[in-house]
Amino acid sequence: MTNAYPHLFSPVKIAETTVKNRIFMPPISTNLADKGYVTDDLVAHYAARAKGGVGLIVTEVTTVEPTYIYLPGDMSISDDSFIPGWEKLTKAVHQYGAKIMPQLFHPAYMAFPVPGTPRLIAPSNVGPYYAKEAPRAVTIRELEVIIEQFGAAAGRVKQAGGDGVEIHAAHAHGLLGGFLSPLYNKRTDPYGGDINGRLRLVLEVIAQVRKVCGKDFIIDVRISGDEYTDGGQNLNDSVYVAKQLEKAGADFLHVSGGTTIMRGSSIPAPGTPMGSHIRLAEKIKKHVSIPVASVGRITEPWLAEELIANGRTDICMIGRANLCDPAFVQKAEAGREEQIRPCIGCLRCLNGIMFGKRIACTVNPSLEQENEDTVSQAAQKKQILVIGAGPAGMEAAYIAAKRGHEVVLCEKEDEPGGLLRIAAVPIAKQDLTKVVKYMMENCTGQV
Ligand SMILES: Cc1cc2nc3c(=O)[nH]c(=O)nc-3n(C[C@H](O)[C@H](O)[C@H](O)COP(=O)(O)O)c2cc1C
Ligand code: SF4
Repeated sequence: MTNAYPHLFSPVKIAETTVKNRIFMPPISTNLADKGYVTDDLVAHYAARAKGGVGLIVTEVTTVEPTYIYLPGDMSISDDSFIPGWEKLTKAVHQYGAKIMPQLFHPAYMAFPVPGTPRLIAPSNVGPYYAKEAPRAVTIRELEVIIEQFGAAAGRVKQAGGDGVEIHAAHAHGLLGGFLSPLYNKRTDPYGGDINGRLRLVLEVIAQVRKVCGKDFIIDVRISGDEYTDGGQNLNDSVYVAKQLEKAGADFLHVSGGTTIMRGSSIPAPGTPMGSHIRLAEKIKKHVSIPVASVGRITEPWLAEELIANGRTDICMIGRANLCDPAFVQKAEAGREEQIRPCIGCLRCLNGIMFGKRIACTVNPSLEQENEDTVSQAAQKKQILVIGAGPAGMEAAYIAAKRGHEVVLCEKEDEPGGLLRIAAVPIAKQDLTKVVKYMMENCTGQV
């Protein structure tokens, strides 16, 4: 097998750990946990991505304490009862040679105000998100407890066999992101004011995690290299932040961009340039010696290879494209790019979870019924005629062919795709053409 992507498929050393390739999966909430506990569906979901070849998985937000939840189906590791589930998950992922670490998170002012939730806490009494009432500023005494909770949560991850933790301080999101951001941190005590004050909480969390988990345990920090917002953190600030995080013992930096409030800024929509936050990673990479990861619409293997080969990032975090096709990495490595089911950036995956539903994908229906491997071979092979090569017809032909049937797909127009071809016409919708191409190349029938 020739390797068309030698940079992408070279190992990367992170502190004491070697990761087999440079495609990592960033945190993507799925709503598949049950009251914070790992479920079989959650294990299947991450195991499928590990089997598909991802080097390291950062799981979705995982809460460190029990009072506040972000989404009803989020993960937690806030006490020892969560450890057995995490053991199952880490084992399932490790069997494929991938690493796994949770994204440790305190939702603070972005918590979902389910009945019984006390008034939300925040760096300052600024910015309700879901809640109608303004949050209250968290006290220094409460922060001391929260820092301990981050440490204890990381200790449980280590006990469960996890390879490390990601500390989520990006997107002005949740407690740590809020403290770091001048948009939400209006404090005048040692945890506010200038950039050193705003950084203090994150640095104390890193120190506590290191104290509990020791050296041989990855700590990465997710930051926004630029919040793209007037009054927010900009790239100059972030270069300084990155240097302080390195000094404090972070093992790699996951450089995102934007904020959660301006959702499209952190999770780019279709039509935004691929590699949306790469400029930020590239700049930060020049100022630190630990590995730097970039994220945002890195949807095709050639682009990921270019970004690394051209020295713009060390690692590519590939999120939605790995949702859309759990075998993205394997197919890229084997040079089977035309078999990668294309992510169109439509964000149906996000819409569903924000309304409490389990994760779903426009292009990969099997995401709702993990996983596609469960499509079994038919006991009796048949000849199947599918009339109409629009989206439904193509999907029917695709699944029938996967089940081993001999498929003929008919279309009265000159080209397949139906309404998808029209939907691809407006600006920013060109990605839909990739879906038609993919379906036609993979339904393996006669047309
Ligand atoms: C459905 C969905 C859920 C997400 N959940 C999280 C999360 O739990 N924590 C987080 O920091 N980012 C989350 N993100 C943002 C992703 O980590 C990532 O930054 C974003 O999707 C851009 O990368 P991509 O274009 O490769 O998907 C989520 C994004 C999506 C689409
Ligand atoms: S729902 Fe849309 S954005 Fe999300 S993974 Fe699927 S194709 Fe990509």
